[in-house]
Parts: sequence; structure tokens; C-alpha cells
Amino acid sequence: MPEFTVRPAREEDLLPLARLFATVAEERDGIASEPPIDVEARAASWRLEGTLVAVAGDEPIGSVHVEVSRFGFGDLGMAVAREWRGRGVGSELVQAAIAWARGQGLHKLSLQVFPHNEAAIALYRKFGFVEEGRLVKQYRRSSGELWDSVQMGLLL
Ligand SMILES: CC(C)(COP(=O)(O)OP(=O)(O)OC[C@H]1O[C@@H](n2cnc3c(N)ncnc32)[C@H](O)[C@@H]1OP(=O)(O)O)[C@@H](O)C(=O)NCCC(=O)NCCS
Repeated sequence: MPEFTVRPAREEDLLPLARLFATVAEERDGIASEPPIDVEARAASWRLEGTLVAVAGDEPIGSVHVEVSRFGFGDLGMAVAREWRGRGVGSELVQAAIAWARGQGLHKLSLQVFPHNEAAIALYRKFGFVEEGRLVKQYRRSSGELWDSVQMGLLL
């Protein structure tokens, strides 16, 4: 039995996924969003289309979302619960997102990642994403710091 499985997200996943997102935002490190996160509003605005969830038992432990643009590419965002990191969940999610995007006929996946996020950059490189550029002082953090981000892309 695998420890976890990846499947398309369902309506009932949205609140737990929004809670997970809020917990990851509290780290103020990997994802752009920072607290406070309005969990209910986040769940209500989350699009099921393009969202894949990793579940252990009934519990969502990670997710990836591909936001499809009008121009044939998709923007990827993801997070895995801290206690599940380093166990292959991110890899399964990225693999599933690539397969989903190909199935939709997209020609490219794009994403932004903070330069210090070594785990995420290693994960994306592993699946063939390449660095396409750096956005300088793009993100103003609640601390007042201005963080660069690295633009990465994968041609499908
Ligand atoms: C980035 C993230 C999604 C990775 O998920 P994960 O489940 O830990 O990923 P995996 O266990 O599949 O590891 C994938 C690869 O990342 C690399 N990696 C994992 N943890 C690492 C670490 N701490 N440092 C460096 N590389 C690491 C390895 O190359 C690994 O591949 P391998 O096991 O085949 O060697 C997860 O750390 C996370 O959710 N972080 C917080 C939110 C975030 O940063 N989201 C991405 C925003 S762009």
C-alpha cells in the first residue's frame, strides 16, 4: 500500500486545502502568501479545475494547482505539509500536474520560486524545468524586505 495517493481535488478537499495553505503561509518562506489568510475565502475562491491533491487516508497533505492561461501555458503553484516533505509527495504532484497539463493540450508550464527555496528548485529541475530569468525585488514581504523570484518553465 502506498503511503499516499494523488487524485483530482473535490469540493470537500477545499477547506482542508485552504487550512494547509494557511499553515504553509505561516512559514513565511516558500510561498508568496503570508498571514493572515482568510481560510473560508481562500477555499471559496479555489478553482477545482487544475487542482490535484495528495491524500494520506482521508487527509489532504499537499496539492498542486495549474492555472490555465488563455495563451496555452499554465501557471503552477504547490505546497506539501511540512511533516510530509522529503518523502516524494512533491514529486508525485509535479508528475501528475505535467500529465494533466499535457492532457489539456497546454504547450508549457511556468512558475515562480524564491531563489532560496532549494527544495522546490531541485524538485522542478528534476522534472526538466529550466530557469528563464530572475524578477528583481518582485515580492514585498510583510517584514518590508523585497524578495527576488526565479522564473522557471517546462516545455511540454
Ligand atoms: C517544495 C516542496 C513542494 C517539495 O515537496 P516534497 O514533497 O518535499 O518533494 P519530494 O520529497 O518529492 O522531493 C523532490 C526533490 O526535491 C529535492 N529536495 C527535497 N527536499 C530538499 C531539501 N530540503 N533540500 C534540497 N533539495 C530537496 C530532491 O531533489 C528531491 O528529489 P529526490 O528525492 O528524487 O532526490 C515542499 O518542500 C513544500 O511544500 N515547501 C513549502 C511550499 C513551497 O515552497 N512551495 C513551492 C513554491 S514555488
